[in-house]
Amino acid sequence: MSLNMYQVFFALAVLLLVYKFFEGKSKSLNRPPIVHISHEALFRYPRQAYETALKEHGPVIGVYRKNRLEYITDESLASEVLTNDALFSAERGTAAILNMPILNMLPHSFIGSLDKLINKSVIPFMETLVPKLAPVFEKHMFELAAQAEASKSDAGVPVELAHHVHDAMAESMLMLIIGEKNPSPEFVRAAIKVAFDVAIVAGIYQNLGYWSRTFPSTWRAFIWIKLMIFTIPWTFRNIAWRVWKDLQVVRKTGKSDHLDPVCLVSRLIQDTGSLRLKDRLWIVCLTLGITFASIHQTSAVIIWVVYELGVRRENLPLLRQELVDILETDPVSGKPTLTYSSLRNAERLDSFIREVLRMKGDTLTIFRLTTKDVPLGGYIIPKNTLITPMATLLHENTDLHGEDAKKFIGDRWMGSGKTSASISTGYWPFGLGRFACPGRQLAIAEIKLMIFALIARADLSMEGNKYTVIDPLNTTAVPPRGQLLLTRLDKHIF
Ligand code: HEM
Ligand SMILES: *[C@@H]1O[C@H](CO)[C@@H](O)[C@H](O)[C@H]1NC(C)=O
Repeated sequence: MSLNMYQVFFALAVLLLVYKFFEGKSKSLNRPPIVHISHEALFRYPRQAYETALKEHGPVIGVYRKNRLEYITDESLASEVLTNDALFSAERGTAAILNMPILNMLPHSFIGSLDKLINKSVIPFMETLVPKLAPVFEKHMFELAAQAEASKSDAGVPVELAHHVHDAMAESMLMLIIGEKNPSPEFVRAAIKVAFDVAIVAGIYQNLGYWSRTFPSTWRAFIWIKLMIFTIPWTFRNIAWRVWKDLQVVRKTGKSDHLDPVCLVSRLIQDTGSLRLKDRLWIVCLTLGITFASIHQTSAVIIWVVYELGVRRENLPLLRQELVDILETDPVSGKPTLTYSSLRNAERLDSFIREVLRMKGDTLTIFRLTTKDVPLGGYIIPKNTLITPMATLLHENTDLHGEDAKKFIGDRWMGSGKTSASISTGYWPFGLGRFACPGRQLAIAEIKLMIFALIARADLSMEGNKYTVIDPLNTTAVPPRGQLLLTRLDKHIF
């Protein structure tokens, strides 16, 4: 019996199909299991839903959220995912999760440049920065306390915390970024609006809205065009225009005396050297990036800390005592003031802040994007997918933090050498690895300035002794909701 050519081809084709079938099978066998989690569970009880799924199918699972497949890991794989930047890219993960893949296409690394700028031009100057920032925060918090003092009654006076926090953050950051000492109300409003609009593009309310949850891809495209192309450039125009004019003057005259020499725009000019068109555009974009990165999250965290203090009032007397102990005397004016070294000595407040950041229930926070097919936990994670460890499994891990890990203990970290800005596998509200938040020391200093100024002149509590978490899937960006009440203190601490 002889085989004709058609039979040979047929046999080969069958073999090829069989091979492909098994190849496909073995590949998909090697993928982590895909777990279906209902919309309801995902958006209302994300912590329970992800933790249960990981317990059943871990150490790494795939879950679809808003039409995107994300891989979630348990505590055993967290360090590898967060710190091995060659395989799990922080920069590309952040760009993807911020809905801004365009950042990855730019000629220089945008996130890398922001990172370098903060590390080089902010952190080494904290000593001189704090006394400049302090009056801004004091002004706003003292204003709130004055509302309580104006009331005759002993009942708490409801105040608008979020509004004052946003104003204070925006004013202080405009001073730092463009060197504007008394920014006009238009500038302040623009900075707040820009930070807020970028957060919307980035998806801050995407877990909450009906449209964004049900039609995520259409929503992303729509909001992108609306905000990135129209709203943001329009809102940012006065700040951008001001920076642009400053740059023009430097370019024409070669002098920069009109600029505050320590503001970030001045530092960027020194670092850039020449100021060709593309350099000037780049500097304007970086100021936009810093405005977003610095104002939004810090404001959210301040609100968290104040509300937690409001429901844990037993911590207040010792914190006030700490404030008395760390205040220094200004050598020129003779007045009591807070310096960077006083803030660093405020161990009790620092511990409280660290405990709030650890316990606020972060679920999916910082994402990485795989740069190739990566073996992990016995599986292969395909190239270009989002992956993140489940934060609660580390932040409240009993092996890392002891048997009482799930308990909020305000002074837990006093004397431990672990500060609110020192990150580790058990504590990463600021991220981990090479691209961890460069602004964290500044953020913590600002939070302390604001809290001390508030408790120096008012007693605080929460209406109904509670607050509500609005988005349990995004505790970092969406602050809780509640009504802060202030009562006057018999005596100002400063
Ligand atoms: C409490 C307030 C803040 C929180 C919770 C926070 C948190 C974070 C996190 C989680 C990351 C990503 C890290 C990673 O992927 O490993 C990050 C990155 C970054 N943060 Fe912060 N941050 C805060 C305040 C600030 C401030 C005040 C500044 C600037 C002065 C700042 C500037 C940046 C920059 C430049 C990056 C890297 C680029 C980027 O992802 O946009 N952050 N931050
Ligand atoms: C939380 O909000 C930020 C915007 O500030 C967004 O980039 C991020 O994707 C959101 N996180 C989650 C888990 O939805």
